[in-house]
Amino acid sequence: MTTSLRIALSSDHAAIDLRQAIAKHIAALGWEAVDIGPPTTESTHYPKHGEAAARLVASGDCRRGNILCGTGQGIMMAANKVKGIRCGVCSDTFSARMIREHNDANMLSLGVRVLDEGLALDIVDAFLAAQFEGGRHATRVDMITALEG
Ligand code: RB5
Repeated sequence: MTTSLRIALSSDHAAIDLRQAIAKHIAALGWEAVDIGPPTTESTHYPKHGEAAARLVASGDCRRGNILCGTGQGIMMAANKVKGIRCGVCSDTFSARMIREHNDANMLSLGVRVLDEGLALDIVDAFLAAQFEGGRHATRVDMITALEG
């Protein structure tokens, strides 16, 4: 399968079940879920899982990433430390669309203690369907990139 349809998935221990539900869902949409775990609910540390998914996206191996933890916040912070990553936490479909259209986000972060499964899947759908609008938004995204040094 081409990189254009690969999406990296990872989470911490809190979000295993939702991550696996998302993996099935996006496979049904025609994306390849590159689920890098972890496989069990044994306590782990979200920064390393956020970083691992972010590296797959930043390298071009995967076109998008979807990461999850209790709130979505900690794992998002870790992913955004990887050069080339623009990851937003979303709890609504409008924001999921906008981080693609205006911010050219390449990763989505979700909080399993914030969302139920149905809304989480709708948010994933909105994120994957939306396209970056470019134009004035590209200028602003370039300014974000310039902050990476
Ligand atoms: C783990 O208990 C929790 O801190 C983590 O899932 C996440 O919410 C951190 O941002």
